[in-house]
Amino acid sequence: MKPWRFLAPNMLGFTWRTLSQALVDKLKGAPSRPVQVAAYVAEHAERGNPASVLATIDRFAREVRWLMNIGPDKGPLVQEMAGRLPTGARILELGAYCGYSSIMMSNTFGDAASITSIEVDADAVDSCRRNVEVAGLSNRITFIHGPSSKVLETLDAQPFDLVFLDHWKDLYKRDLEIIENRGLLKQGSIVVADNVGDVFNPAEYLTYVRECGHYDTENREATIEYTNAPDAVEISVYKGR
Ligand SMILES: C[S@@+](CC[C@H](N)C(=O)[O-])C[C@H]1O[C@@H](n2cnc3c(N)ncnc32)[C@H](O)[C@@H]1O
Repeated sequence: MKPWRFLAPNMLGFTWRTLSQALVDKLKGAPSRPVQVAAYVAEHAERGNPASVLATIDRFAREVRWLMNIGPDKGPLVQEMAGRLPTGARILELGAYCGYSSIMMSNTFGDAASITSIEVDADAVDSCRRNVEVAGLSNRITFIHGPSSKVLETLDAQPFDLVFLDHWKDLYKRDLEIIENRGLLKQGSIVVADNVGDVFNPAEYLTYVRECGHYDTENREATIEYTNAPDAVEISVYKGR
C-alpha cells in the first residue's frame, strides 16, 4: 500500500470522511463496524430477502459509516463470473467482513453453489453469521474464524472453482501460493482479487499473477466502494503448473 495516495486530490474527500468517522466512533466508544452493521441489518432488512440485506448494508455504508464491502458498483465484476462457473460451484473467499460479498455471490451463483469464507476478526465473523441468517442463506455459506494462512492449511485438498481474494492486500501473493501448493486450484479455476488499483496497489501480487506463467489474467477498472475514487479488480484464470 502507498499511504500518500490517500492524500491525492481525488482521495481527500474519502480520506477525510473515513478518518473522521473512525475518530467519532473511537471517542464515543462505539462498537466495531461489523457489530454496528449486524444491528442495523436486524432492524431494517427484510428477513429471507438477500437483496434487502445487501441494500440495507449499502444504505449503512452511504448514510451511517463507510464500509469496505465490495459494494454495488464493483460487485457486478464478481457476479459476471456466474456465467463461467459450473452448477454446484465451490467458492473460497478470504476476508468476509460483514458477509456482503458472500451474500452477493450466493444470491447470484444459486443454491447449488457453496461458499467457504475465512475471516480473522471475531466480531466480523459474528456479524457475517447474523447477516447471512437474516438473508436466509446460512445453509450455503460457511464462515471459518482464523487467519487465512493457518485456516488454508486445514482445508480439504479439493479444488475451488472461484477464489475471491479480499483480505489484506499484502497477503494476496502469500496466500495464493498457499492455495496453489495445497491443491485448491484446478485448471480453469478463477481467482478474483479486489482492490488492485493504484491506491491499495498490491504490486507483488500483480507481478506474480502476470508473470509466473500459471495464469491468464486481465485487469478491470472500477471504483473504490461507495466512492468515485479509482480502483481495479484482477481476474486470473489458473492454467496449472
Ligand atoms: C475488505 S474486507 C472484506 C470485504 C468482503 N469481502 C466484502 O466484500 O463484503 C477485508 C476483511 O479481511 C479480513 N482479514 C484481514 N486479514 C485477514 C487474514 N489474514 N485472514 C482472514 N481475514 C483477514 C479483515 O478482518 C476484514 O474483515
